[in-house]
Amino acid sequence: MITAQRITAEELHHSLKDIKVGGNVCHYSLKKCEELVPLINDIRELKEAKNAVILVHSYVSPEILYGVGDYVGDSYALSKNAMETEADTIVFAAVRFMGETAKILNPNKEVLIPALLDGCTLADSIDAKTVRQLRQEFPDYTFVCYINTSAEVKAESDVCVTSANVYKVVEEIPNDKIYFLPDKLMGQNLVNEMKARGVKKDIKYSSGTCYVHEEYTTEDIFKVRTEYPDAKIVSHPECTPDIIAQSDFVGSTTQMLSYMRETESKKFLMLTECGLSSRLQAEFPDKQLVGSCTMCRYMKSNTLEDIHRVLTNPTARDQVHIEETMRLKAEKAIKAMFHYTQL
Ligand code: 13P
Ligand code: SF4
Repeated sequence: MITAQRITAEELHHSLKDIKVGGNVCHYSLKKCEELVPLINDIRELKEAKNAVILVHSYVSPEILYGVGDYVGDSYALSKNAMETEADTIVFAAVRFMGETAKILNPNKEVLIPALLDGCTLADSIDAKTVRQLRQEFPDYTFVCYINTSAEVKAESDVCVTSANVYKVVEEIPNDKIYFLPDKLMGQNLVNEMKARGVKKDIKYSSGTCYVHEEYTTEDIFKVRTEYPDAKIVSHPECTPDIIAQSDFVGSTTQMLSYMRETESKKFLMLTECGLSSRLQAEFPDKQLVGSCTMCRYMKSNTLEDIHRVLTNPTARDQVHIEETMRLKAEKAIKAMFHYTQL
């Protein structure tokens, strides 16, 4: 049962005061927190009344993360949270493919998506018809889909993966022919990582990209290394192979955060969406971020107002519905991911 604990403006300010979004200006003054707290406390009460849980991806704005979020993490951790929750309603403050994953795992729960821009350039780059055509063309291949895909694409795939487990899962799959979709950069990184591990696999991949991560260049790394030679370069596997080759650490958003926590270095360049930099500023104020980051317009379209709206008066678009035959097929691919991850 979710209990509604009220939060004060001072408590919220304590969590957010070190976050400086864009430049050196703190956007969360005590006055700003006083303005935010009434809506945050209304949402907390609604959660209790509806026995609802709010799952938040790390890229979503800090007032949501620290104001109303029950679970915060990467797409792997959040899909596990979604599988394990006993709440009746799941509000997924992220993008549509994550809300769909929660619904695939919880057909009897209400799943609500507050984001008004709920797309993702990766998930939107491929549809089920294309996967069916590819399967006809490559009948001997195991089709591995990134979690950043629609429910219909998952339903046409054999195994789902996330950035947290893609290398491990592909290594474990007992077929040396793999078709990975839809991220071409992650596909190239997968080929390189399997080579580095001495794993022989014939890996094909499709042509999608994440518009946030593909923008980073080795010039960004060069500038930081010149000015701050002791800075650690931390990147997400959706970045280009050149970036990956020059990084000190590569992993999912949660793994990137854990690396920073466990590494003695004080300076970090984070090559991922800005939300993770905000979390770093809030949770590790003694560490310094260098360089700049880019925002995902989809993740950042989540607002406290829309979370309040979906908890009070959800429209059909806010509620996730997945046809049962498709859901069962997509669930098989997600359960296969849990299976290979645990081996
Ligand atoms: P993570 O699973 O690493 O959080 O990544 C999700 C995502 O959309 C990255 O752009
Ligand atoms: Fe999709 Fe990229 Fe946004 Fe992640 S950051 S949700 S991959 S568009």
